[in-house]
Amino acid sequence: MFLHLKVYIVGFIYFLGILFMFLFPPRNFEQSGTKMRRIRSIGNKLKYEGYIDYETMLNVVQHMAMEDPEMVEVVHLTPHTAANNSLIAIELHSDTLSKKPGILIIGTINGMVWAGSNSILELTDKLLYDTTYQTPFFNDYDWYLIPIANPDGLNFTTSLRDYTSIDAIEWSRNISVRTKTKPVEWHKNVDKESGEQLCFGTNINRNFAYHWQDDVRKTPIRCSQYYPGIKPFSTAEAQAIREYVHKLADILHLAIHLHASFVPKKEFILYPWRYTLRQPSNYHSLQEIGEYAARHARLPDGRLYEVHQGSSDERVAGSLSDYISGVVGTDLVFVVKPYHEVFPNYTDSTIMETYIHKSISVILSLVRGWRSSTKQNTLSFFGKDIEF
Ligand SMILES: *[C@@H]1O[C@H](CO)[C@@H](O)[C@H](O)[C@H]1NC(C)=O
Ligand SMILES: *[C@@H]1O[C@H](CO)[C@@H](O)[C@H](O)[C@H]1NC(C)=O
Ligand SMILES: *[C@@H]1O[C@H](CO)[C@@H](O)[C@H](O)[C@H]1NC(C)=O
Ligand SMILES: *[C@@H]1O[C@H](CO)[C@@H](O)[C@H](O)[C@H]1NC(C)=O
Repeated sequence: MFLHLKVYIVGFIYFLGILFMFLFPPRNFEQSGTKMRRIRSIGNKLKYEGYIDYETMLNVVQHMAMEDPEMVEVVHLTPHTAANNSLIAIELHSDTLSKKPGILIIGTINGMVWAGSNSILELTDKLLYDTTYQTPFFNDYDWYLIPIANPDGLNFTTSLRDYTSIDAIEWSRNISVRTKTKPVEWHKNVDKESGEQLCFGTNINRNFAYHWQDDVRKTPIRCSQYYPGIKPFSTAEAQAIREYVHKLADILHLAIHLHASFVPKKEFILYPWRYTLRQPSNYHSLQEIGEYAARHARLPDGRLYEVHQGSSDERVAGSLSDYISGVVGTDLVFVVKPYHEVFPNYTDSTIMETYIHKSISVILSLVRGWRSSTKQNTLSFFGKDIEF
């Protein structure tokens, strides 16, 4: 009699359990991409050999979107650049049903950062397919990545790589020297204003409409590498980015401009403002997250990134990071500058790999720093905070 009762009770409990599973299925089980993802763990090895140019980048991301249409979306931004290229954004979603905090990464606004596209594509690959990056990085956020924000500038600098360097102003002013020489540096795109013969190109990172030209007494000359455009948003690249970031305004929590330092042993994690010495209201959390990231992304020779407000070294107005912070209203905005050689040896992949590893490490450390500041990554265990 007793035994019967027990069997009934146990049976009933099982039935309740099954009913519960049926009524409230665990969401991630069915709908998230987790189940069907092809996963692997490749450690520190890089997937792509050699610098990735615009066409290769386009092929790679289109291939990713074809293989995993549920998780990868490729967006062609408009307007097109002077050379008729479209900025490409890659959107990664681990879960089609829920919206997660958005992270935006923009690389190669400066065309001399040749390894910028590699860094962002390697990061994308790891987020999608490498088990060690899925938790906590891929599954907890929606990612928006623009590998090459200045395709024309990248194409321009890489195509001149074998020529002899001469002074950039001299190069710009004198067409007869151009046949076998290149400007020693090129921080611009290649657009022309109407009727122009000689000087061309606009510095995209000074072309955004936030305190535009506040850093200079008078407009830099047209040949200058810091020429900010005839007016804010005169460049197609800045317009395309503007439209895209405004669309993401409510979703974005963290934005990172992957930049580069061209001075050895001077590597930075910067945050707004860049145009003024005035501090942003969330100065303390930006500094704290930056320092956390610097500790976790220690440089190969043991140094730390220098972490401070962008304007402490040099004031730069009309920059992307100030625009995202000041106009779009994103809380956490950083500019990261690992060292990148100017016109590195194109076939020497060791230099390239160093920049890529540094970039991925500093980007993910910023994400960790943010998690840590919000305690997203800590569990209280008998009164002790444990990070994971
Ligand atoms: C620019 O590129 C698009 C395709 O990306 C093409 O349809 C269009 O004809 C091109 N325009 C010019 C002026 O070459
Ligand atoms: C790069 O420049 C060459 C000419 O210098 C041009 O033929 C090619 O279409 C350009 N590629 C891109 C992606 O702009
Ligand atoms: C341009 O460069 C050539 C060769 O270096 C030089 O002879 C010429 O004087 C330069 N022209 C101008 C206008 O500077
Ligand atoms: C560039 O790197 C390659 C491969 O490491 C090397 O063979 C070549 O000599 C280098 N070129 C120059 C100009 O240093």
